[in-house]
This record gives sequence, structure tokens and C-alpha cells, in this order.
Amino acid sequence: MTYKIAVIPGDGIGNEVVPQGVRALEAAARRFDLSLDFIDCDFASCDYYERHGRMLPDDWREQLGTMDALFFGAVGMPERVPDHITLWGSLLQFRRVFDQYINLRPCRLMPGIKSPLAGRKPGDIDFYVVRENTEGEYSSVGGKMFEGTEREVVIQETVMSRTGVDRVLKFAFELAMTRPRRKLTSATKSNGISITMPWWDERVAEMAGHYPEISLDKFHIDILAANFVLHPDWFDVVVASNLFGDILSDLGPACTGTIGVAPSANINPEKTFPSLFEPVHGSAPDIFGKGIANPIGQIWSAAMMLEHLGHQDAADAVVRAIEKVLAAGPDEAPLTPDLGGRGITDELGNAIANAIKAS
Ligand code: NAD
Ligand code: IPM
Ligand code: MN
Repeated sequence: MTYKIAVIPGDGIGNEVVPQGVRALEAAARRFDLSLDFIDCDFASCDYYERHGRMLPDDWREQLGTMDALFFGAVGMPERVPDHITLWGSLLQFRRVFDQYINLRPCRLMPGIKSPLAGRKPGDIDFYVVRENTEGEYSSVGGKMFEGTEREVVIQETVMSRTGVDRVLKFAFELAMTRPRRKLTSATKSNGISITMPWWDERVAEMAGHYPEISLDKFHIDILAANFVLHPDWFDVVVASNLFGDILSDLGPACTGTIGVAPSANINPEKTFPSLFEPVHGSAPDIFGKGIANPIGQIWSAAMMLEHLGHQDAADAVVRAIEKVLAAGPDEAPLTPDLGGRGITDELGNAIANAIKAS
């Protein structure tokens, strides 16, 4: 079968790293005899917004809904268009409308990368953040009152539904069951956020009853953030609400050397809708145009996409190729500056594609 993949580079370095992800996918497709049909999409970008006054065409649901997967870069150029307009007009719509309620973000210290945490080596940091991706703190319930006056009030509600929370917890418990340590950590804040978070804890406790094999713990988000830095080896699978998961999934990868390597899968597990694969990082306007963006987050996201499509062998080959090139170190491989090297995006992408071909 031929897989239809929408390619949506977006803004900034999305345009530099997505082609490297496609290059890796093409190499994997040749090596594993897969047929991938790439459909280029120029929408979900500030360029499109400036031409059309909106981020997406009217028929975006129909266009994207027939795809097998969405391969996404990053959106946002806050100097040109405010972030809440670009993001609520694109990525956050995709996540909600396509019910991609899991945001799966692996965090692993790769061979050859120096962690900023003293003495940490590969194997010490290897966990998943499972982030709730369609509700929680990212809600459109709220508003402004007395705008422009001294009495101005702004409200944005956190919305958690039993279906929404239980399904992400179930996914996280199931994922933990597949891991040797069978360990799950819940991110909470039930000491301070007194309605939603104690309820989140109750949902976790009830779900835990179905998984007696899982060793479960929970931390308030503040000390959890500290423990990511102090004891990253404690974690195996970490489940969190939308905002807590967002923060943890930048902090975790920072502990593995650079957020430039971190991938993510926005998954609709039922496959009713296409899932979306993107790096954790954003459009990085500060380095856009310099050709030095690290493409590994995008390429690893390509591996997650192959896995989702059912091609574990191809996915493994892409991850192994990344590891092989990283392990060679900055003297042997064209690693980008965030990895301590002097390589450029294109060279690093090329080296990884060659390693996939040679696998
Ligand atoms: P960012 O992730 O774009 O950049 C943060 C820092 O990390 C910057 O210094 C950047 O140069 C560096 N960095 C990021 N990716 C890198 C890579 N691949 N290689 C090397 N260095 C890299 O976060 P930000 O600066 O907060 O956001 C910039 C824009 O991106 C904003 O508009 C923001 O809303 C948007 N954003 C979009 C997404 C997304 O589309 N999924 C995610 C995060 C941020
Ligand atoms: C991410 C990003 C997005 C989020 C932003 C750009 C809306 O930070 O994918 O982690 O907060 O989910
Ligand atoms: Mn984020």
C-alpha cells in the first residue's frame, strides 16, 4: 500500500529540518520497500497567513483527513503574527479536531551526547512523557471583562473530562506495562490547584487499580521539575496534563543535551483520524536562515511515524542511524553546534540518510 503523508513545514527552521526528515523517510522507504506519497502543504505558516488572512484553507479537514499521517515542522514567527493566532489557527486545531489526545515524547540521552547534568551517561536518562493533548489548561473557555479599564479581569478555565483524563492515563499505564521497569509517575499539583488536580489524582488511583503490576508514584509539578534534573534515572513513564506535559517535555530533553533532538507523536490511537509527528522544538527564529538547526528531532519524529504506520523495522533503522552518527562524535560526524559540532543541517541530515541506506 502507498501511505499518503502530508508534509507541513510551517515556519522558521521547520523549513530547514522537515526536508531532512523527508530525506530520512525516503532512505527508509527504499531500504524497507515502502511506498510513501508526500503531499506538500504550504498552509499553517505565517506566509500563508499573510497571503490569505487565515492559517488554513476552508477545506483543511477534508484535505488532511484522508492522509495516513501528518509530518509537521513548527509554527510561529511572533514578530510577524502573534503566536496565539498562528498556533490556535493550526497545530492546536489539528490536535483537537483530529482527536490526537496523546502527545508521546520520548526523552533519551543518546550515545555521544554530553548531558548538562554532571556524570550522566546513556542509559541514565530514558523515559517517556505522556502528555494529555486536547484539553486541560489549553482550553478556550474563558474571556475578558471590563477590558481596557482598571477593573479588567481575564479568565481561562482548565477543562478536564473523565473520558479525556482516563484515556491518557490508560495509554500511559499500558505503555509502562511494555517497559522492563513498569514504572509510572504522575505529575500533579493537588496541594495548590484544589479542584482539578485532586480529581486527577483520584482518576490516577482508580486506573492504578487495574494495573497492580505497575509501580506508581506521583510528584507535585514543582518538585518533579527539580527531580528531572537531580534524579532523571528515577523516571520511566511520566503522565501529565497538557501544560505540565508541555513544560516537562522541554525540560527532559534539555537534560539530554539539546531540545534539538527531541521528537513527538500526536496520536489518535483509534486511527479514526491521522496522527501528527513533529519535533518538540519550535521555529527557532533566532537561528532560522543560518543552516545550523539540528534536524534530529524531526528525523526521530519520522521514526515515530514509521512505527505508528506499523513499520517497526524501518523505525528502528532510523533511530539506529541517528545513534550511529551521534556516537561518531563531532570530530567524525557533521554534528550541529547545539551538539558541540561545526556541521550544518544538510550535512547532518545527509549523514543520517546514508546511515539508514547502509543499515
Ligand atoms: P524554540 O523551540 O523555537 O527555540 C528555543 C531555543 O532552542 C532557541 O534558542 C532555538 O534556537 C533553540 N532550538 C530549537 N530548536 C532547535 C534545533 N532544532 N536546533 C538547534 N537549536 C534549536 O522555542 P521558542 O523560541 O519559545 O519559540 C519560537 C517560536 O516557535 C514561537 O513562535 C513559538 O510559539 C513556536 N513554537 C512552536 C512549536 C510547534 O510548532 N510545535 C513548538 C514550540 C514553539
Ligand atoms: C509544543 C508547543 C506548543 C504547545 C505551542 C507552540 C502551542 O510548545 O508542541 O510543545 O504548547 O503545545
Ligand atoms: Mn512545548
